[in-house]
Amino acid sequence: MKAATYFLETFGCQMNVLDSQLVAGQLRELGLRRVHSSDEADIVLFNTCSVRQHAEDKVLSRLGELKPLKRRRPETILGVIGCMAEREKEGLFRKAPHLDLLCGPGELYRLPALLAEVSQRREQVAALAGSQSRRTKVAQRAFDDDALEAFDLSRLAALRLTMPHTADVNILQSYVRVQRGCDKFCTYCVVPFVRGPERSRPPRNIVEEAQALVDQGCREITLLGQTVNSYLHQESGRPVRFAELLERVHALEGLDRLRFVTSFPADWDEDIFRVLRDCPRICPYLHIPAQSGSDRMLKAMKRGYTVAEYLKLMDTARKYVPEIALAGDFIVGFCGETEEDFQASVELVRRVEYKSIFVFKYSPRPGTTADRGRQDDVPYDVKARRNNELLAVQSEISLQQKQALVGHSVAVLVEGHSKAARKARSAGVGSRQLVGRTPHDLITVFDGEASAIGSLVNVRVESVSPLTLFGRIEAVVSPPRPARG
Ligand code: SAH
Ligand code: SF4
Ligand code: F3S
Repeated sequence: MKAATYFLETFGCQMNVLDSQLVAGQLRELGLRRVHSSDEADIVLFNTCSVRQHAEDKVLSRLGELKPLKRRRPETILGVIGCMAEREKEGLFRKAPHLDLLCGPGELYRLPALLAEVSQRREQVAALAGSQSRRTKVAQRAFDDDALEAFDLSRLAALRLTMPHTADVNILQSYVRVQRGCDKFCTYCVVPFVRGPERSRPPRNIVEEAQALVDQGCREITLLGQTVNSYLHQESGRPVRFAELLERVHALEGLDRLRFVTSFPADWDEDIFRVLRDCPRICPYLHIPAQSGSDRMLKAMKRGYTVAEYLKLMDTARKYVPEIALAGDFIVGFCGETEEDFQASVELVRRVEYKSIFVFKYSPRPGTTADRGRQDDVPYDVKARRNNELLAVQSEISLQQKQALVGHSVAVLVEGHSKAARKARSAGVGSRQLVGRTPHDLITVFDGEASAIGSLVNVRVESVSPLTLFGRIEAVVSPPRPARG
């Protein structure tokens, strides 16, 4: 039987969302049609995340649910791609013997060939880093770079060939990878193990990709990297750093908004702040995780900065861009975290006055330095309590910041129907509620026609909750932009 349909579900971070879009492009070129239920699919793929145990458990449970399907229709190809395939390696075949395919994030460019191999050989196939071991390491790296670059650039062909705004690709807001992998090896983190060493993509390719997206109607680009500010590429013998890359992408005609995530507090380059201040289409938003407010914990995490240095950086950011919105990540209950350490994180959250924070309960990851050398000694209920406490502190701050916006007008890029509207509409109830974001990344909900999706509007804020602004459209600043012919 020749496969005609595929189902693809994505877990994890923006990198995975982007990888899934590229995979969707590959599969479309193979003539496969995307379906929205695994029951209807000839190929079922999960693009997975390993950052915490909970992320992996979700996938294991989804895989378990597919056992009856695989028994009923053994010809269905079932694949795990992405970070969890890379972390678990062939061991995942033992946990889920009904799996046909494993493909790590660095091998996704081979996916079409791997799918063909599975359907011909009807055997389990695994493509993981280092599995082509005959090559020397240096040659392997050069080969991987070229192959992965081709994977990212495959989007250009897909953009030229296919209709934009198809159900599986969000063109209005797009991600562009600027950097792969990570070299920081924070002691708790699995990412360097599953995504490999840090590599910066050639600036020319990044700009070309961004331009192609803008030509197809993209209004907002988010540059992606685990530590974007460490971006460094040698171009004709001279280094191009992140500040210059930002300027080059910002110069693209037709681009309305430019964002970037995630920033790493150490090795910061003040030129980036200058560019942020001087380039009006770069959103005044910085996602720059602190992880902890305790120097003892930061040291144990091997983050490479102190709380004082982090605070100084936040102050400098506000000196250059006074209204900048700051977002951060925190881990609670890391090995050895005392109540005092945790209170230091609370203190940091109060002091920085973030726009929003993401809080995670420490989850030991096999193979990391922390897992090998330290005890996961904070009980789960203590982690849960600290998690809630930190979120509650932020929630108060977020509410106050948003209350100050009531009566003011904010600029919003209209993304689509709100979650509530989508739910109502799928239950057959009409709803005109739309959602979008401000340059400061504030989620804004308001009523409007579907024809407003893709436009830039001004919304007058009428009420707020800790996470959301509510208001009404005051003016359409710029209508939806069609693709250039
Ligand atoms: N590269 C980014 C973050 C990547 S992972 C950075 O360094 O900022 C996203 C977030 O997951 C991290 O910021 C961290 O807060 C959290 N995280 C990573 N490993 C974790 C673990 N083992 N347990 C709990 N949270 C973790
Ligand atoms: Fe993980 Fe640290 Fe790299 Fe971020 S910088 S991906 S937390 S190792
Ligand atoms: Fe998860 Fe991989 Fe991203 S581990 S957070 S999907 S890089």
